Amino acid sequence: MDIKSVIRTIPDYPKKGILFRDITTLWQDAGGFRHVVDQLVWPYAGVRIDKVAGIEARGFVLGGAIAHQLSVGFVPVRKKGKLPGAVISEEYELEYGTDTVEIHQDAIKEGENILLVDDLIATGGTAEAAINLIRQAGGAVIGAAFVIDLPDIGGAKRIAAMGVSVRTLCE
Ligand code: PRP
Ligand code: HPA
Repeated sequence: MDIKSVIRTIPDYPKKGILFRDITTLWQDAGGFRHVVDQLVWPYAGVRIDKVAGIEARGFVLGGAIAHQLSVGFVPVRKKGKLPGAVISEEYELEYGTDTVEIHQDAIKEGENILLVDDLIATGGTAEAAINLIRQAGGAVIGAAFVIDLPDIGGAKRIAAMGVSVRTLCE
């Protein structure tokens, strides 16, 4: 199926000049939602995955569905201050300033194989911070899966350079 046909583009969101790729229209489409989950999951058939880690906020929806399909647990990678237990944190650069992502200290055990999931990769800064957190916790990132790649920005290459295999479904 043509995934791009069910992804909506909103101009000037969240600020002027940005073309925002809105995946909510894909989720509303039952066939489209199932298709992207299936497409992100099948390459990992036969690969040991212990948990899926999904990046706030849209990576929760996709990552939850993928974890269910793989029959594995789910770890939320959240923005600073949202998780109730003891956390580990990683700061990353934004266009202006920095942001921080966190996971619970006990969310990932030494030696676990983790599949990282988000809706879109742009600079790769958020995914890089999430990978650093997973590795700090002792997990191995066996793949990073996104529906949308913005290839001109170079995030997928940046994540591949960390030794993580990247899967994206459209540009
Ligand atoms: C978006 C997107 C990714 C990230 C990609 O999230 O869902 O998580 O940006 O950008 P990067 O590759 O340049 O790091 P956003 O920052 O809009 O957060 P939200 O999901 O909490 O709205
Ligand atoms: N959509 C969703 N998240 C994003 C985008 C986008 O177009 N650009 C950077 N992060």
